[in-house]
Amino acid sequence: MDIPFEVIALNEARPAVRALDQRRLPDQEVVLELVTSEEVARAIEDLVVRGAPLVGITAAYGVALAALRREPVEAVLARMRKTRPTAVNLFWALDRMERAYREGRDLVAEARAVHEDERERTLAIARNGADLFSCPVRILTICNTGILATGGVGTALGVVYELHARGLLERVIALETRPVLQGARLTVYELSRMGVPYTLIVDSQAAALMARGEVDAVIVGADRIAANGDTANKIGTLMLAVLARYFDVPFYVAAPLSTFDRNLPDGSRIPIERRSPEEVRSVRTCRITLGNAPVLNEAFDVTPAKLIRGWITERGVLEEVSHGTLGVY
Ligand code: MRU
Repeated sequence: MDIPFEVIALNEARPAVRALDQRRLPDQEVVLELVTSEEVARAIEDLVVRGAPLVGITAAYGVALAALRREPVEAVLARMRKTRPTAVNLFWALDRMERAYREGRDLVAEARAVHEDERERTLAIARNGADLFSCPVRILTICNTGILATGGVGTALGVVYELHARGLLERVIALETRPVLQGARLTVYELSRMGVPYTLIVDSQAAALMARGEVDAVIVGADRIAANGDTANKIGTLMLAVLARYFDVPFYVAAPLSTFDRNLPDGSRIPIERRSPEEVRSVRTCRITLGNAPVLNEAFDVTPAKLIRGWITERGVLEEVSHGTLGVY
């Protein structure tokens, strides 16, 4: 599968991390040159780059950049760990970079290996997910889980692209994903560029479509999956899982094994990021801001494992997740 645009890259010759600025999409395609590790850390915090695997890849490149610039690597590792709390891929990638640093290995090579590793995992996830379906389907999804989120073809959207390539996709139903609109801005941008048919809906329309039998499956990504399968993903995912159970629509999570956190027994201990109230107060479509309206802006929620039909991974589709099943990997 061809990836038609670059979302992240490390320039060794003139040390910098090049990042497509996702805050400006779809209106403007701007590539930022981040020349210090602090600029990379801020780019992660400000959602210049986002999506669990891409956050990890970007942080790894940030550490490699620090090594090229002779910045203190241990301090940079600690700074990167503070950028976003929920996606465990960040910590998985930084643990790899820390190991390489302690073993005196080349940090540029290790960061590129992290990127390549995540990219390959998405290709396998796409194939394994597409194998679940044998006739054209309408897939409902939330947030952005594609090229822009992974540095590869994507997780849930990777499955969508593979279904499309196999002639097995009727259309994608994309939730706009308030408040940052990763669905309306980023998923729609990607699907348009990939030539995949889609319908954009407001988040609250999901129930009506499921009630009318217009959704064949829900596939979402994940930011952290606990040892019992409880899954943190973009706020609104839990709502979709409850609806899918009620309307008997299969609900799948697509994620690489780098998103599984065996150290947490269940989802109750997954740290949920709280972001700025301003994201909610500025209602983009109305071009208004809501002054000081009290706001709770949790970026993620946790879907209990019992609502999930299967976890689509690079090693196959798991029908249950426990310490035992994960131990196999
Ligand atoms: O806040 P974001 O945009 O980083 O949230 C991203 C998501 O919730 C994605 O669904 C998740 O990271 C999986 S991306 C393959």
